[in-house]
Amino acid sequence: MSNRLIPERLTQADLSALIKLNESVISSAPPGYIRPKSEADLAAIVTGGSGAAFCIRSQGELVAAALLTYPPPQVAGLPLFPRVPPEQWLDGAAFFDGAVVRPDMRGQGLQRALFDTRLAYARTQGRRWFCAGVHAGNVVSWSNLIRKRLAIVGMAFFYGYPLFALLRAEDADAVATDGPSRLVDPYDLAGHERALGAGMLGVDLLDGQIVYRRAVRADTIGQSVIRNVAHPERASSAASA
Ligand SMILES: CC(C)(COP(=O)(O)OP(=O)(O)OC[C@H]1O[C@@H](n2cnc3c(N)ncnc32)[C@H](O)[C@@H]1OP(=O)(O)O)[C@@H](O)C(=O)NCCC(=O)NCCS
Repeated sequence: MSNRLIPERLTQADLSALIKLNESVISSAPPGYIRPKSEADLAAIVTGGSGAAFCIRSQGELVAAALLTYPPPQVAGLPLFPRVPPEQWLDGAAFFDGAVVRPDMRGQGLQRALFDTRLAYARTQGRRWFCAGVHAGNVVSWSNLIRKRLAIVGMAFFYGYPLFALLRAEDADAVATDGPSRLVDPYDLAGHERALGAGMLGVDLLDGQIVYRRAVRADTIGQSVIRNVAHPERASSAASA
C-alpha cells in the first residue's frame, strides 16, 4: 500500500474515524489546547455546510486531520480581529481550526501540510482573511502558523486559557510591520500584552522568542487584548487551531 503523506479532503465516510482521532488526541492534549467539537458540528464541516475538513492517511489509516471553518452568520465579527473589515467577515474570513496529528506521526510537517491544503482551498472559496486561535502554551502549533506567515494580532483569556489570535491576510498591508523589533519570551504573557498594547504584531521567531514589530496600520491599538468572563464549566472549549 502506498504511504505518501498527502492531504486530501475528508468525506462523510471518514466521519467516524475523524471523531475517533479527535477524541484520542484531545484526551491526551493539555487542557485548552484544542476545542472539542460535537459530532453534529464535525458532520456539518465535513459535508461542507460550515467549512471543510482535510486529512492525511498512512497505511490506510487516518493519522492527521484539520478543519477550515467559516464564521457563523450570527457573529458579525470578533473583537480580536478588527483588521478584518466587518463587511468582509462573513464571506471573506476562514478559521484554521482543529488540527490533530496522531502522536507517533508528529514532527513530520503534517500540520503545515494540512495548513497549505486548507489555505489553497479557502482561496478557492473566496476567503481572504485567515484566522486562528492558539493556546499560548502550544508552542509547536503557533510556531507553525507564524512560519506560515500568520501574525499574532491579539490575545484573549478565554475561560482562563491564554490564547493568541493569529491572522494572515491576502492583502499583506493589513498586517505589515516596520521599525525596530522587540523580542518576547513565549511564556511572558505580560510581555505579549505590552507589545500588543503598543500596537505591535508578533511576526517572526528568533531563538525561541517571538519577534514583535510595530504594525504599519495601527488600527488594533486598544483592542488587542481582551478578557472574557470565566465559564469554568466550558473551559475545555477554549481554543481552536
Ligand atoms: C500541534 C500539532 C498539530 C503539530 O502537528 P505536527 O504535524 O507534529 O507539526 P509539524 O510536524 O508540522 O511541525 C512540528 C514542528 O514543531 C517543532 N517542534 C516539535 N516540538 C517542539 C517544541 N516542544 N517546541 C518548539 N518546536 C517544536 C518540530 O521540530 C517541527 O518543526 P520542524 O519541522 O521545523 O522541525 C500536534 O502536535 C498535535 O496534534 N497536538 C495536539 C493537538 C493540538 O494541539 N492541536 C493544535 C491546536 S492549535
